[in-house]
Amino acid sequence: MPLPAELLAAATLTRLFLGFWKFPDTSALPRGGGAAAFPNLRELVLSAMDIDSRDLDFLLDGSPALEKLGIQGRISNKGIRLRLVGQRLRCVQLHVSAVESIAVVDAPRLERLFLSGSRMREGSFIRLKIGNAPKLRLLGYLEPGTHMLEIGNSVINFAGTSSNLRSMAPSVKVLGLHVRFGVQNDVKMLPAFLKCFPNVETLHIMSEKTKETTGKLNLKFWQEAGPIESIQSHIKTMTFREFQGDPSEASFLKFVFQTAQILKDAVIVGAKGNFTSIPEVIRKVRTLTPENWGSKCSVHISQSSGPEGGQLFSLRAGFEFSISDPFRYY
Ligand SMILES: *[C@@H]1O[C@H](CO)[C@@H](O)[C@H](O)[C@H]1NC(C)=O
Repeated sequence: MPLPAELLAAATLTRLFLGFWKFPDTSALPRGGGAAAFPNLRELVLSAMDIDSRDLDFLLDGSPALEKLGIQGRISNKGIRLRLVGQRLRCVQLHVSAVESIAVVDAPRLERLFLSGSRMREGSFIRLKIGNAPKLRLLGYLEPGTHMLEIGNSVINFAGTSSNLRSMAPSVKVLGLHVRFGVQNDVKMLPAFLKCFPNVETLHIMSEKTKETTGKLNLKFWQEAGPIESIQSHIKTMTFREFQGDPSEASFLKFVFQTAQILKDAVIVGAKGNFTSIPEVIRKVRTLTPENWGSKCSVHISQSSGPEGGQLFSLRAGFEFSISDPFRYY
């Protein structure tokens, strides 16, 4: 259904949710220079919309007061290149939407960027560029193997071990990662991803099942990846969901338990179908902590009761600033 273009003249709107529309062509409309379509709009959610990159840019440019942006479901038939520019933007969420690239160009107040169910075309990456976002505190779920991360002007070099000081996002305190531990190439990128966020205090890992495994990476891989500052010195809380007990997951956890000096809380949630009981998950996790572990860390173990792969991320929780960590598992 074509969305009536008259809507663009509703200057008083403060919240707008649109779903299942074809967005009007804005190419003939004036842009920039104070030509705001929605001068008062603070919250915008687009669900399963047919919209071009150009019209999306128009919408964001024309909404200078926007604080919360959510995009869910497939948008457009072509890939969308999302450019985030907004002096007031505080939270952006993209769920199960087919975007080609996401560039945080200039968002001085952006605190939260949530991504889930990122979809890409066969054999290509989704480019995620973090430019000016000095307040970005919560970020995730990043998916090694799906997202190509770019910070400032440098693409994160996964092959090498060099870590460029300028290619870091030091403001990020809560990081979510979605990892296919069965895919060797994805796991090989993990150290580089982690090194981009040296000050992370809370790490949320969501493990994804894969049909075939392409090799395992052992503890030696992690030891040779060099020191990871966040794990060594900043991580206080870690959650690991959909744990299957797979050898690559196990070496990652062993590494964290051996090196994280101030880890206080770890939550490990066994995947449905891989464990028959909680004691079985406990026995498995016991094999991963160092012998005579003198750590003051408490480890909470449970078993997943939700759908396989975890619950869908809640758009509402993401926008709720009183919920300090919407990734948290309860
Ligand atoms: C976990 O369960 C899935 C099936 O639900 C299976 O394919 C996979 O191999 C299991 N993983 C391990 C490590 O046992």
